[in-house]
Amino acid sequence: MIYTMVMMMKHWLTTPIFDKLVAHHNKKPISFHVPGHKNGSFFAKKGASFFNEILKLDVTELTGLDDLHSPEGVILESEKLLAELYGAKRSFLLVNGSTVGNLAMIMAAIDEEDTVLVQRNCHKSILHALQLANANPVFLNPEYERQWGVAGGLSVEIVETALKKYPNAKALIVTYPNYYGIVFELERIIDLAHKHGIPVLVDEAHGAHFIAGGIFPDSAVSLGADVVVQSAHKTLPAMTMGSFLHFNSELVCLKQIEAYLHIFQSSSPSYPIMASLDLARSYIASFDEQDIDYLFKQISGFKDNLSKIPGIHVLAYPNGRGDLLKITIQAKGLSGFELQKKLEERGVYAELADPNNLLFITPLLKKGMDYPFHQLTAHLSAIMKTELIGKAGGYKRKELCFQPPAISGLTFGFKEMKNLKRRKIPIEDAVGKIAAEMIVPYPPGIPLLFPGEIISHDHIEQLQALILTGAKFQGSNDILKGYIYIY
Ligand SMILES: Cc1ncc(COP(=O)(O)O)c(C=O)c1O
Repeated sequence: MIYTMVMMMKHWLTTPIFDKLVAHHNKKPISFHVPGHKNGSFFAKKGASFFNEILKLDVTELTGLDDLHSPEGVILESEKLLAELYGAKRSFLLVNGSTVGNLAMIMAAIDEEDTVLVQRNCHKSILHALQLANANPVFLNPEYERQWGVAGGLSVEIVETALKKYPNAKALIVTYPNYYGIVFELERIIDLAHKHGIPVLVDEAHGAHFIAGGIFPDSAVSLGADVVVQSAHKTLPAMTMGSFLHFNSELVCLKQIEAYLHIFQSSSPSYPIMASLDLARSYIASFDEQDIDYLFKQISGFKDNLSKIPGIHVLAYPNGRGDLLKITIQAKGLSGFELQKKLEERGVYAELADPNNLLFITPLLKKGMDYPFHQLTAHLSAIMKTELIGKAGGYKRKELCFQPPAISGLTFGFKEMKNLKRRKIPIEDAVGKIAAEMIVPYPPGIPLLFPGEIISHDHIEQLQALILTGAKFQGSNDILKGYIYIY
């Protein structure tokens, strides 16, 4: 827990990148270098008032400002502080989201044709990495959380079975926590994988704040994971795309991770993003016992108020333990999408809707900080009042019990798929055919169908239910018109 150590580790609160940028700005430098806005002095008038402050920090690899791809100065200093705080051997600042972290971590850990065990409800960046690596993925079905109607975490049993069935597997890739904040027995799973000599790669995109300890689940690094990727921007106060990669492995090659980050990340990394990561690390390092108590009280009070609204049900975590920052609700008579729309009409934006649920992400408040929780409570009360008075019935809960096989692979390998012809057919004719596209309801960006998978009756049922309830699909333009691509 951070707050037990923070007094001794005051240097974790320092912000070398941000300080250096401010010092550079204070010198009133004259820019004859990129970027073209020249420290903000040269910018479209229309946007200037919004962009001005941030443009002061938007510089390039000038003398003294270090280089993300070969850090020796302030960036290395910031990365060392990050590694110390999270308990990693080496940590990296990422400017292209967890997406780039997942790509680099997987490319570094596996070779072509390697068998890799993958938690099925993974983000599309995981599948993209497997595709790039020409790997042979074996998907492990997560537990289905009936009341939530969503995929949860991996069971120890399925990992045990998969490790026995695929003793030649080269890595295990898991997503912890899931989008809704649900966690599982990661420590036992890591121990199991390590007993088989394989590394555990964790997409902890939604758990950068777990390091605060106490009320939060354990962080994957502290549980012994080999490589962990976190979207700092999702739950810490960091700029969008700002992310972390932590390395702690005897089984994965650090040099390979560095090499792939070099390949995949921009050669002009954003200094505002890096500085915001510096500040976000300092922010989470400053969390003390009083902050944790305060945050817990604020969020618990908010949840209590939500559950007092007639027709609103606040979901409890399946195993009693999950991410405090996430709140998932269900509303009587309304689908998650309908409730989302009604809130947006009132200027309130939630993180994610699915057929049954609406998910809110609350901020990591420190003692004394305020947030307009009461406004959300008031809007929800007003919506539910009209909903319950005006309509009897309305939306009926969808039981989306989509159950793919517990352990499944692709019918065609990624290499083979490159040379196959694709064609478009009506969704209802697709049962038994081989999917030629990834179907990703978004958010949360978790693939329902992978290219190379046989399309089942359950797939189609779930797809049609998602379409009916207003889900969006990233990358698959024809799904909403009723078509799907097959081989
Ligand atoms: C589980 C998971 N992993 C990875 C990502 C990608 O993260 P980023 O947006 O930081 O690239 C997301 C994004 O939503 C995600 O939910």
